[in-house]
Amino acid sequence: MLPFRHLVSSEQLTKDSLQHLFYVADMMGHIASTNGRTDILEDKIIALLFFEPSSRTMLSFQSAAQRLKAGIIFAQSSHTTSFQKGESLEDMIRVTASYSDVIVMRHHQAGSAQIAADISSVPFINAGDGDNEHPTQALTDTYTILKELGRLDNLRITFGFDPLQSRSIHSLARVLSLYDNNHFIFTGPPALRPSESFLSSLQDSGISCAVTEQLDEALDTDILYLNRLQEERFPDHALFKQLRRAYSLTKAMAATRDFIILDPLPRIDEISTEVDSLPRAAYFRQAAYGVPIRMALLASMLQRA
Ligand code: NCD
Repeated sequence: MLPFRHLVSSEQLTKDSLQHLFYVADMMGHIASTNGRTDILEDKIIALLFFEPSSRTMLSFQSAAQRLKAGIIFAQSSHTTSFQKGESLEDMIRVTASYSDVIVMRHHQAGSAQIAADISSVPFINAGDGDNEHPTQALTDTYTILKELGRLDNLRITFGFDPLQSRSIHSLARVLSLYDNNHFIFTGPPALRPSESFLSSLQDSGISCAVTEQLDEALDTDILYLNRLQEERFPDHALFKQLRRAYSLTKAMAATRDFIILDPLPRIDEISTEVDSLPRAAYFRQAAYGVPIRMALLASMLQRA
């Protein structure tokens, strides 16, 4: 049983709920690789509202829903929905809730997930709201770390290269701050330094944090978590063009160290493709774990697991 009805922020996740979701995800992974599907959500309809581009999150939610035999209804861009006609988010959610048993939404506006959850009469899942949060990515990432390293505590984790604007970094750091003796290092161009309010909220939860522009210093770590510069969130596109190739992980940099490499993807400039052949490049395994973890989340939020 999860301690929340809606999942808006990774701050709602507790150690107990994570343990439960990982246990169910293991079972779901087994079902997916043996029988392919299970009928536990065959009487349910899942609404997927994606008002911002998505590949992995959208496809893994669809795959998870199919493996649970749930029905899916789907709206993709704000151009093909009544947003184009000026409809409010609140009205859109009210109506979608009357058509479905759970709503999954991605939206470009930070804070939109909370607005939607406050209105929704059915369970609501935030699939990314602007530069704010991406809690289901954090679930996927944490599950991957547990699978790759066997622990979630006593870790050094380096986050780059856009800790200011990456919602995946924000959500994962919040989840990992639940566990003992973790140390965070944020790296990237000075203009993309994490906000002071974000750093102090981590420090308030007992996490020690360092910020450095020197990638070399940041490579003394157990986990290198990289995410592309968030092009669509730059107020000044010229700054994006100037910074986009300033930081990039090459095979030579990774070869002499023993960190695992994670990336929520899409990969743009932050990791050279030659890194893919290293056994510690775990980002495609990470993308695959998105299906069992989202199966576990859907089944648990609909109280079938
Ligand atoms: C991330 C996102 O949408 O924030 N992608 C994802 O969901 N796997 C990362 C990104 O777009 O850079």
